[in-house]
Amino acid sequence: MPESEKQETSDPDWSKAYRETKNVPWYRPNIDKKVTPETRKLLEQYSNIPPSQVLQHVHTIRDKLWAIRSYPCTGIGLWLDPMLPKSPAYSTIIQKLQAGGTCLDIGCFIGQDLRRLVADGAPSDRLYAVDVVSHWDVGYEMYRDRDRFSAHFIEADILYPTAELRALMGTVDVLSITHVLHQWDWAGQVKAVEQLVSVGTTQHLH
Ligand SMILES: C[S@@+](CC[C@H](N)C(=O)[O-])C[C@H]1O[C@@H](n2cnc3c(N)ncnc32)[C@H](O)[C@@H]1O
Repeated sequence: MPESEKQETSDPDWSKAYRETKNVPWYRPNIDKKVTPETRKLLEQYSNIPPSQVLQHVHTIRDKLWAIRSYPCTGIGLWLDPMLPKSPAYSTIIQKLQAGGTCLDIGCFIGQDLRRLVADGAPSDRLYAVDVVSHWDVGYEMYRDRDRFSAHFIEADILYPTAELRALMGTVDVLSITHVLHQWDWAGQVKAVEQLVSVGTTQHLH
């Protein structure tokens, strides 16, 4: 991201403060139980990770993510259970993407929801992902799909959209945002939602 566009950010300082320690309540040493049957299936069948290596792989990746930002969702393994497939609109979204539609995941983290869309039949080249800080490379490592996952990542703050994000405004068909809005007070949530509406969609999901 150009320095000129990094002047304002809502990236919170607290999420950088604990990266050197794991001695906080929201870092759970063992997150085996967060690997749901669906996530194990994705890692074994989409990422071709041998079953005996799945749990170690997940813990190795989690520590790489923790070194970027010490988010509670990272420490407790919440990201291992993608939210989008739980939406009642999930099958409609897949159909829309297969028919040529586009999807934007705001606060995408490592792209776990987008990997599920692709594993469930959506083409990856019409997927867009935005996050205030990039965990994107670790996502390729998690899912071992650098050579076949073509989603477009934009490092941007939804509260202060970059030119690249603004260019998407009014063009996406499906907008997803999960586990992001709760971080702001009311004024921040209203500001974020105003930005999301201006991104422009035909379906708002969450
Ligand atoms: C708790 S994680 C949720 C990840 C995923 N959406 C999920 O449901 O598991 C919140 C994500 O939102 C990102 N995020 C926080 N503030 C943001 C902002 N202002 N603009 C874009 N992304 C943001 C964080 O970096 C993080 O990856």
